[in-house]
Amino acid sequence: MSYKRVTLSQFLMEGQHRYHGSGTFTSLLTDIRTTCKMISHEVNRGAMAGNLGVAGTENVQGEQQKKLDVLANEIFLHMTAQSGNYAAMASEELEDVHTVHGAHGRYLLLFDPLDGSSNIDINIAVGSIFSILRIPDGVTGTPEEVFLQPGVEQVAAGYAIYGSSTMLVLTTGHGVNGFTLDQNIGVFVLTHPNMRIPEDASEFAINTSRMRFWEPPVKRYIDECLAGTEGPRGKDFNMRWVAAMVAEVHRILCRGGVFMYPVDERNAKQGGKLRLMYEANPMSFIVEQAGGMAITGRDRILEVEPTALHQRVGVILGSKNEVERIRRYHEEHDAAGGKPLA
Ligand code: F6P
Repeated sequence: MSYKRVTLSQFLMEGQHRYHGSGTFTSLLTDIRTTCKMISHEVNRGAMAGNLGVAGTENVQGEQQKKLDVLANEIFLHMTAQSGNYAAMASEELEDVHTVHGAHGRYLLLFDPLDGSSNIDINIAVGSIFSILRIPDGVTGTPEEVFLQPGVEQVAAGYAIYGSSTMLVLTTGHGVNGFTLDQNIGVFVLTHPNMRIPEDASEFAINTSRMRFWEPPVKRYIDECLAGTEGPRGKDFNMRWVAAMVAEVHRILCRGGVFMYPVDERNAKQGGKLRLMYEANPMSFIVEQAGGMAITGRDRILEVEPTALHQRVGVILGSKNEVERIRRYHEEHDAAGGKPLA
């Protein structure tokens, strides 16, 4: 490693000075940094540590929990509660808000401790996603109500990807930066400064096994991509599906493209598949900060007013011109009398 490289700690300190911060962000993100390093270690040890397989329990969404889901959730709760920076936390794996007694901070943390957990047992990339909100001044209400703020209110968000290398990708509203974990010295190093998503792309990610349930505008977009050079787009498209949103978003940040988990006939009753507060919002914040776009199909995700902690939503995000095209297809569909599913 070159000794001229910038570590995550140095990067955070530099940001603190540049934006005249009090050190709060540095502290908030330091908690996350340690958490992700510990989870990365457990993911890496995999079968050797007996970390693979199911835990034999279900989470609040009725999904089977993997051992690593449970472990990653415990690591998140424990490692981020100790400093007292966060007053409360909400997790994909917990039904209710977890309040931190004696906390001094006015920040809220939401997280999906291990995204894409069906990949764990087959040694394919997984990740952690987090979103940080501030408790508004003079706020009253139940702990859950305090969390129900639209994504535009996020003060920071990011993800860790545990792939061929471990990376932490962050935004505090001043662009997006990516750090790679040097496993030998246990330090995150700035390797992807100022990540930008190309505006045009010819790669899409969608679970095509659900094609028969899609809304017409989604089907129209994918049909046109599949028609390639002979179709209306006049170019060939490539397709990828990792089945871990973190990995799909990471690919898009590195080389562009579109990721879609739209509302369809099967998931419309629940509002979609992905969770608004700790999956869609943080990823949309990152994508927008990198020059991309993120919508439900019709609306900007970051402006969706949440009504529940575990609310689900349709997600279409990535390269601006492609996502804008998909938004337009929804608009044209509705203008022609088509009924939205959700
Ligand atoms: O629950 C979230 C998630 O694992 C995402 O990370 C991923 O994009 C999606 O679900 C995979 O869904 P499917 O099982 O339909 O491939």
